[in-house]
Amino acid sequence: MSVDLRTMTADDLPSVLALEEDLFAPDTWTASMYRDELRHTDTRHYLVAVDGAGIVGWAGLIAYADEAHVSTIGVTRNRQGQGIGGRLLDALLAEADRRSPVVLLEVRADNERAIGLYERRGFAAIGRRPRYYQPSGTDALVMRRERPAGATGGREKP
Ligand SMILES: CC(C)(COP(=O)(O)OP(=O)(O)OC[C@H]1O[C@@H](n2cnc3c(N)ncnc32)[C@H](O)[C@@H]1OP(=O)(O)O)[C@@H](O)C(=O)NCCC(=O)NCCS
Repeated sequence: MSVDLRTMTADDLPSVLALEEDLFAPDTWTASMYRDELRHTDTRHYLVAVDGAGIVGWAGLIAYADEAHVSTIGVTRNRQGQGIGGRLLDALLAEADRRSPVVLLEVRADNERAIGLYERRGFAAIGRRPRYYQPSGTDALVMRRERPAGATGGREKP
């Protein structure tokens, strides 16, 4: 089934929260955290991946002029390993490269699949935050990627 990416809206939150609960419990974001993110349209870029059956993935970017941050990314279990996460991340990084010279993210230190995905997109580990994810107490690896030479810098004029 083909998958399209589009901007996340508040109407998507019930589906996103259900996926979030399945993939990240107990360290889940709440509806009000997502609503807050979606309000900041100038600095946020949240996407959902949709197929004929509904939302199968989502991802978010917080981007300031000096630094961007991949805030979340997930793909429903039965669609993992089909390239959807890679597409979501590529879309976030294209947006990040338009806005910021550097992208940072945190990833669970035991999440080898996600770490591999990030390394193949040019991220390198720069540190570790002990017990970053709460309430589980899992450590986070901090990863950083610089905008590739030749990528667009600065916002394009309308
Ligand atoms: C991490 C995650 C977002 C990746 O999304 P995905 O759709 O499964 O990823 P893709 O199919 O695009 O594959 C990503 C990479 O993993 C590789 N991969 C696919 N299946 C794999 C598997 N079973 N084991 C290891 N690597 C695998 C792919 O080859 C691909 O490599 P590439 O980037 O060089 O093409 C997704 O697995 C997920 O939601 N995991 C649970 C939540 C999570 O961990 N989120 C990240 C928090 S930081």
